[in-house]
Amino acid sequence: MFALTAILSLLLLLQPSLAKVYCTGPTASTVGVGGQVLTVTWADDGSSPTVAEIGQSSIDLYVGSVDKQTALQNLAASVDVSKASSVSATVNPTIGESGNYYFVKFTSLSLKDSTNPQYNYEAFSAKFQMSEMSGQFNATVLSEIDASNSTTTAATSGAAAVAAVGASSAAHASSTSSSHASVSTSSKTTTSGALSTVAVPGLMAVVLGVAGILFA
Ligand SMILES: *[C@@H]1O[C@H](CO)[C@@H](O)[C@H](O)[C@H]1NC(C)=O
Ligand SMILES: *[C@@H]1O[C@H](CO)[C@@H](O)[C@H](O)[C@H]1NC(C)=O
Repeated sequence: MFALTAILSLLLLLQPSLAKVYCTGPTASTVGVGGQVLTVTWADDGSSPTVAEIGQSSIDLYVGSVDKQTALQNLAASVDVSKASSVSATVNPTIGESGNYYFVKFTSLSLKDSTNPQYNYEAFSAKFQMSEMSGQFNATVLSEIDASNSTTTAATSGAAAVAAVGASSAAHASSTSSSHASVSTSSKTTTSGALSTVAVPGLMAVVLGVAGILFA
């Protein structure tokens, strides 16, 4: 126990003050289930901007490609990513089809993208699978997924998340985000980071970060 405490204390000391949102879940190996709770977790990744600068963010479930994306469900309308480290929401099974088409996008409500200041800061999860989905994609969404299929065939590793984050500027150019409100009524959103927020949010972020590395 002393050893564990010592290691955690050391990690706490090593925690960088500069960071950006690094999504530690869902990962490329996640299989979400329609109608069940999906938990989104994140941590600081040690580079700018700080999570405090990113601040209040919208967290949404998306499908699509790097170039064109469609928001299917709002998972949390406004979460301070520097205070909480996870949100959980029930995925509405009618928003789409089962398959490896989904990703989570964080959109800061205030911070602008440093390279494309006309857009707000964004961060992405890896693409992951949803099962037990009962909806149907329309032609617009199917064409976006098609583009994704042909351009990101290797989107099955943790590297995909990093690539997706790097590609966020490209995504800005023609993003088709919409329809948050249309599905938000069917989602139940809770902030499960509250406990850790009260206790030691920095430590929690570090632990999540370490878990992210171990399971990557
Ligand atoms: C296709 O579905 C998406 C997601 O539900 C929706 O935002 C979009 O408006 C739809 N497009 C058309 C042309 O119906
Ligand atoms: C994407 O590619 C996979 C594997 O090649 C295929 O099974 C799936 O039907 C494709 N999805 C779309 C929407 O084209």
